[in-house]
Amino acid sequence: MTTASNKLDTLLQETRTFQPSEAFRAQANFNDVSVYERAEADPEGYWAEQAQHLTWFRPFEKVLEWNPPHAKWFIGGKINAAYNAVDRHREGARKNKAAIIWEGEPGDSKVFTYDMLGREVDKAAHMLTKLGVKKGDRVTIYLPMIPELAISLLACAKIGAIHSVVFGGFSSKALRERIVDCDAKVLITADAGWRRGGLIPLKQNADEAVVDTPVEKVLVVQRVGEQSGAQMQEGRDVYWHELYKQVPNTPYPAEEMDSEDPLFLLYTSGTTGKPKGIVHSTAGYLVGANTSLRTVFDIKDSDVYFCTADIGWITGHTYIVYGPLSAGATVVMYEGAPDWPHRGRFWEIIEKYGATIFYTAPTSIRTFMKWGTEYLEQYNLDTLRLLGTVGEPINPEVWMWFHEHVGKGKAPIVDTWWQTETGAAMIAPLPGITSLKPGSATRPVPGISAKVVDEEGNEVEPGNGGYLVITKPWPSMLRTVWGDDERFRNTYFGKFQGIYLPGDGAHLDKDGYFWILGRIDDVINVSGHRIGTMEVESALVDHPSVAEAAVIGRSHEVKGQAITAFVTLKDGVEQTPELVAELKQHVVGKIGALARPEEIIFTAELPKTRSAKIMRRLLRDIAEGRVIGDTTTLADPSVIDSLKTMYKDSE
Ligand code: WT7
Repeated sequence: MTTASNKLDTLLQETRTFQPSEAFRAQANFNDVSVYERAEADPEGYWAEQAQHLTWFRPFEKVLEWNPPHAKWFIGGKINAAYNAVDRHREGARKNKAAIIWEGEPGDSKVFTYDMLGREVDKAAHMLTKLGVKKGDRVTIYLPMIPELAISLLACAKIGAIHSVVFGGFSSKALRERIVDCDAKVLITADAGWRRGGLIPLKQNADEAVVDTPVEKVLVVQRVGEQSGAQMQEGRDVYWHELYKQVPNTPYPAEEMDSEDPLFLLYTSGTTGKPKGIVHSTAGYLVGANTSLRTVFDIKDSDVYFCTADIGWITGHTYIVYGPLSAGATVVMYEGAPDWPHRGRFWEIIEKYGATIFYTAPTSIRTFMKWGTEYLEQYNLDTLRLLGTVGEPINPEVWMWFHEHVGKGKAPIVDTWWQTETGAAMIAPLPGITSLKPGSATRPVPGISAKVVDEEGNEVEPGNGGYLVITKPWPSMLRTVWGDDERFRNTYFGKFQGIYLPGDGAHLDKDGYFWILGRIDDVINVSGHRIGTMEVESALVDHPSVAEAAVIGRSHEVKGQAITAFVTLKDGVEQTPELVAELKQHVVGKIGALARPEEIIFTAELPKTRSAKIMRRLLRDIAEGRVIGDTTTLADPSVIDSLKTMYKDSE
């Protein structure tokens, strides 16, 4: 099996281990290793116990119904996610505790206590109701990282509408596709967003996106003001701050949702050109999110939790909104870029608010490493007691740098493997129990059964690699793909009967530790974001000059992987640097800046097998300058030589 980021050799030479310190262990929520055995002996009992940390309107009668691949959890229960994330804290000692500390990119900041956040959510719930949103309706949210983003999610949850957040970096076309797929009735956006001092024209993108879609109303947050240039369309568009004045100041009663009612959709890339709307349930998702805050993140009332993800991705849903808030923690939410207006911005925020837990992506840490330690040395990071990483495998040397320079050698690092589909961390240490090995996400968390299997589905012996699989259902698993249950069944349960296939390769070491190796399908992981090769290929062939395109991910020092596109042009089209720039921009317009190819290589032909399949592995080898593998199945082997030359020339 080849993987996109094959760093197996270096990874497996890693022998360092780090035991939890006595001090950390003593204070940890979970410090007794028997929790693993208990959960394994009775996973349903374990999850039922974890579910007691939430507040139910009506208790569930049955823990699990498993008709592979369909799971139902906490059957008969009635619950509301926003009530659990906000309102229940307003009634007790956390009423005036900071729920969200928000830092804007230009330096403005706001603090919402649980009570204040609750009032804003109630207002927004009234506003959505006034716009005609009802339980079960879909609301698409396309906002920058401003408080209204978190408030919008929670307001949807409060009234039982299904939110679908689309990351602000996506283009209008990508937004439109996601609106159409789920028939969203309302779109929430902003006049514009700030990014490195410049403007992201969200409203303008939204205007293009909603034409001829089911969207009836567009709710617009004024983030930037006049210079945004945003135009309002009468009858369709309404400003948040204006509607705000028209709705009551009364509490909005939380809708009593069935455990299995969908809480949200989140689109993610797959191996076809069409993104999948991953459907998450209300109770199961919330139990998963809440539990992992207590187990993996050792959350305490005294914590100030800073996750640098954008709420446009699952990490932000689970580890900025539903997880930490349902646990009653204080969350730091930052609007902008790590290097704006200076390269010490994250460290400045940690010092300013006394963050105790810091969760970020390996790609960011690699960037910090490149910048050097001078930026973080200017700030006091002593409050940090726990660090986390997510999104891609972390190179051991990057782990060590994070450990030494950010954690000052004392804060454990939780490397958390999970996916949009899994809802919450699946393979990750419990920091008061698990010995850490730099580069390994360690072992499945309690209640999760993960294995590494071979092509036939047999468990591999320790010391071997194979497919990572999850063998038992878990509460926060995706329930289906929106509007396409068949795709859900085929993608995740098609290879091994009743067993979930995440699409990652993994190696199991002699101690039973998991080393995640990266995607085994046609999905690229660029800076921790998933991009389907097919999506980028479709965007390229959509350009009038392009005949054919093949896209691969190649190793990249900072991004983990970068997009390389091999393109054949139509007859008579000239290969010019201007065309390269134009094609890159075309992809940005179709998908968003996150999908911009790092390089485009023109080639007269693409290497194909005799059955006309593009040989991506070969292209990857060419892009990474490796020795060419077996080419006996290649229809025209001479194609490779010309490709190799082209690639060198384009560097
Ligand atoms: C894919 C999921 C989960 C939130 C961020 C990405 C890769 C994620 C790790 C990790 C190695 C990781 C996998 C996975 N991945 N975390 N700790 N170690 N790989 O969510 O966009 O759904 O992507 O990210 O390849 O399948 P996503």
